[in-house]
Amino acid sequence: MSFSIERFVNLSKAVETSDLDWDYVARVGISDDEARVLRYMADTESHTIIYLRDLLAGHTARDPEISAFMSCWVYEEFNHGRAIDRFLAACGRPPSDGQYTRVTESASWTESLEAFFTLSLPLLTPHFAAAHMAWGAIDEMMAAMAYMQLAQYTRNKELAKLLLRMAKDERRHQAFYYHQAERRMRHPLGQILARLGLDNLWSPVGIGVGGDEDDLAFIAWMLLDSQRGRDELRHNDRMMGRLPGMSGCSLTFRRVDSLMRSFQSRFPGEVDRLRAQRRELGINLDADPALSLGMDAQLSQTL
Ligand SMILES: [Fe+2]
Ligand SMILES: [Fe+2]
Repeated sequence: MSFSIERFVNLSKAVETSDLDWDYVARVGISDDEARVLRYMADTESHTIIYLRDLLAGHTARDPEISAFMSCWVYEEFNHGRAIDRFLAACGRPPSDGQYTRVTESASWTESLEAFFTLSLPLLTPHFAAAHMAWGAIDEMMAAMAYMQLAQYTRNKELAKLLLRMAKDERRHQAFYYHQAERRMRHPLGQILARLGLDNLWSPVGIGVGGDEDDLAFIAWMLLDSQRGRDELRHNDRMMGRLPGMSGCSLTFRRVDSLMRSFQSRFPGEVDRLRAQRRELGINLDADPALSLGMDAQLSQTL
């Protein structure tokens, strides 16, 4: 699989929002549940700079392709956060005063632990970059999937438009990380570090920044409680399983499924409410397979 960093850099820009129908956005609005999901997403996107700090550890900062990618990536992710914040504000749900600082300060201990490993271990071996790149690939897959599922869920057509634009960006990011991971995991030490890192430390993107495990499980019950949701998770795992040393990967399905089960055992009423609401609003998460931009097809389009 090839990836052109030149092409990526040339195509890089802030997600377009100026052409959205902002009167429609304000008139149609969004539900409280959608607002909760978008808040999680905006906070996660706005804090990409934290992940950038971790990713620039060790030798990765000296790799010209990685530096070029990261320079554009952090700008694009920051603008995803800005676009969602603008959307929420237009719906009468602006971020609260001091939201950014509060989220930064409350970033959980798992985030600090991840930061510790990602800042210190790369100094020991350059092969740790394989773990960083595989981690990035899986996070971008999850982000793209969440945006596409929310685009299917929402009744606000302008939100769906914005979400699909961001999903496309996430696929471009995924292509970079995946290509890097594939290359770096050809080395046995890269393989071992990537597999160990993901198996022991990975959790879905945003936990500890955008919210806690229950927030993530809530999002999963809202957006992935369908055949397509399960298929998308398994598809992520199949893609990861094609990386050297990752065969049989079931990471995303297992982690998300376990978070969902734990949530359901404690908040069965919430799960029932979300299901009843989808029935009431006629939302079918399996409805439009054309919207599900199958990962393989997307990768070939964006490389
Ligand atoms: Fe993003
Ligand atoms: Fe991304």
